[in-house]
Amino acid sequence: MSYNLLKGKRGIIFGALNEHSIAWKVAERAYEEGATFTLTNVPVALRMGETQKLAEKCNTEVIAADAANVEDLEMLISRSVEVLGGKLDFILHSIGMSPNVRKGKHYSELDYDLLEKTLDVSAISFHKVLQVARKQDALNQWASVLALSYVAAQRTFYGYNDMADAKALLESIARSFGYIYGRERNVRINTISQSPTPTTAGNGIKMFDNLLDFSERMSPLGNASADECADYCIVMFSDLTRKVTMQNLFHDGGFSSMGMSLRAMEQYKKGCPEEEDPNHIYD
Ligand SMILES: NC(=O)c1ccc[n+]([C@@H]2O[C@H](COP(=O)([O-])OP(=O)(O)OC[C@H]3O[C@@H](n4cnc5c(N)ncnc54)[C@H](O)[C@@H]3O)[C@@H](O)[C@H]2O)c1
Repeated sequence: MSYNLLKGKRGIIFGALNEHSIAWKVAERAYEEGATFTLTNVPVALRMGETQKLAEKCNTEVIAADAANVEDLEMLISRSVEVLGGKLDFILHSIGMSPNVRKGKHYSELDYDLLEKTLDVSAISFHKVLQVARKQDALNQWASVLALSYVAAQRTFYGYNDMADAKALLESIARSFGYIYGRERNVRINTISQSPTPTTAGNGIKMFDNLLDFSERMSPLGNASADECADYCIVMFSDLTRKVTMQNLFHDGGFSSMGMSLRAMEQYKKGCPEEEDPNHIYD
């Protein structure tokens, strides 16, 4: 159902790779709600993914850009303002990538060159987007900028690896830049901390199916889907949330406030071995 919540608003959506992507769902909902926007992704993702299909559906343009490259961002943001016919009202940063995870590096054995890449692409790129937008004065007053995060920024999750560090940095950038941009231009900047979601990036997490199941059993409202995340993003882009800024907003069915649920405990009991080796280190 459409409420015209984004009627007349212009934006940029990063990170729609295929129909499972959270950014894909956000684009579909933003279009339904009356927004105009450009879509962007790295050239390799544009070759392998289906972003062009989404652009046709949303009657928009795809602009190739590496979010870690400042020149690419300068071109993307100025071109978007030109194509859309005015300054922007919203940006979605829906980007995550860890070469350490891809290469199966253990957290205690991280490759530091790869760690730099993880942090650059998954977190510092958010700062770069904001810095370029501010320099170009590309955002309207009360614009809303969002990045997607995960609760591993606050708590340790097996297998999330250096993406946990990237998410902690991402959330910190939202606060630090939120202060500056809020004071100057009333621009609000937040992160949404989403439930585990079956997407290309999600499936890269070690034992992702088990994480999904555990999280579902722990959350009183169950895991939040990509479609539900898109709904939340739309509300955050709308004028209904104008005084929300510098927050990390949990969109996780209650998971982050739980310690243990009966559903999770019962499942745990079923799978518990009679005896375990007390000397084994489970990493
Ligand atoms: N899937 C989950 O379980 C989950 C949970 C919480 C948060 N998130 C976050 O949601 C966001 C979107 O991920 P998703 O789950 O939709 O997966 P996805 O794989 O569909 O999206 C990740 C996107 O990042 C893009 N990307 C990678 N490197 C880039 C670069 N250098 N420049 C520009 N784009 C680049 C990819 O091409 C891809 O489109 C990520 O920040 C992710 O960490 C995902």
